[in-house]
Amino acid sequence: MLQLNLHRNIMSAAGEKNKLINGYKHSLYESTFLSEEELLKTSKQFFDHLNKRRSVREFSDREVSKEAIENIIKSASTAPSGAHKQPWTFCAISNSELKSKIREAAEVEELENYSGRMSESWLRDLAPLGTTMEKPFLEAAPWLIVIFKKVYEFDETGAKHNNYYVNESVGIACGMLITAIHNAGLVTLTHTPSPMNFLTKVLGRPSNERPYLLMPVGYAKNPAYVPDIERKELDEISQFYE
Ligand SMILES: Cc1cc2nc3c(=O)[nH]c(=O)nc-3n(C[C@H](O)[C@H](O)[C@H](O)COP(=O)(O)O)c2cc1C
Repeated sequence: MLQLNLHRNIMSAAGEKNKLINGYKHSLYESTFLSEEELLKTSKQFFDHLNKRRSVREFSDREVSKEAIENIIKSASTAPSGAHKQPWTFCAISNSELKSKIREAAEVEELENYSGRMSESWLRDLAPLGTTMEKPFLEAAPWLIVIFKKVYEFDETGAKHNNYYVNESVGIACGMLITAIHNAGLVTLTHTPSPMNFLTKVLGRPSNERPYLLMPVGYAKNPAYVPDIERKELDEISQFYE
């Protein structure tokens, strides 16, 4: 877990606590300023911490409390979203019967994927990761979090309203979910047993929601093994314009 015990200077509220802008209430933002030294230390610590994150496919059956999962979901829900529509539903499943149903349906799709639906080059790219059509982690992990994106909403009259930048918003929220899981000392796997429509049916979700990702969450099995892969270097993934 990341521990940041740095001295933070909360900017003293020089202005009013609240004010109206275009007739809408705005509240004073409390900025956090770090010294240059603290900034470098905290950004490096956070990178070192995130650099230890791995997708794990072997889960312990050790329990994880509902409260911890709630905190993780609440962390993800702090994500920004297009026009603040928060177009997501996080379904958290610990019920064994539902987990078994999800595993069974996911393996039906994955059997199709591995025996013809995926191209030769895709299968070659997956080979070093050691993935197969078998998904035991969907039953072994104490929790499954299924993230649904809400493509539209209904208003009080039942009329449909499209949400904006739904994929971008939900993708960011999932990134924050993964970060919160890692920060809690737990592990997950970003899983996409495509197509995922079976999740809508198994979980009885409404027509405005589409399954986005299926994430088993729990402790890593001891021992657990992960593929020996490298991350790209900074100069391969960035371009600075100074
Ligand atoms: C959108 C997305 C879909 C993925 N789908 C699967 C999947 O269906 N099964 C699986 O085993 N891993 C899946 N992964 C995990 C990747 O294989 C993994 O992130 C990658 O190999 C890098 O490993 P790392 O997460 O340990 O850094 C997926 C990852 C992403 C981002």
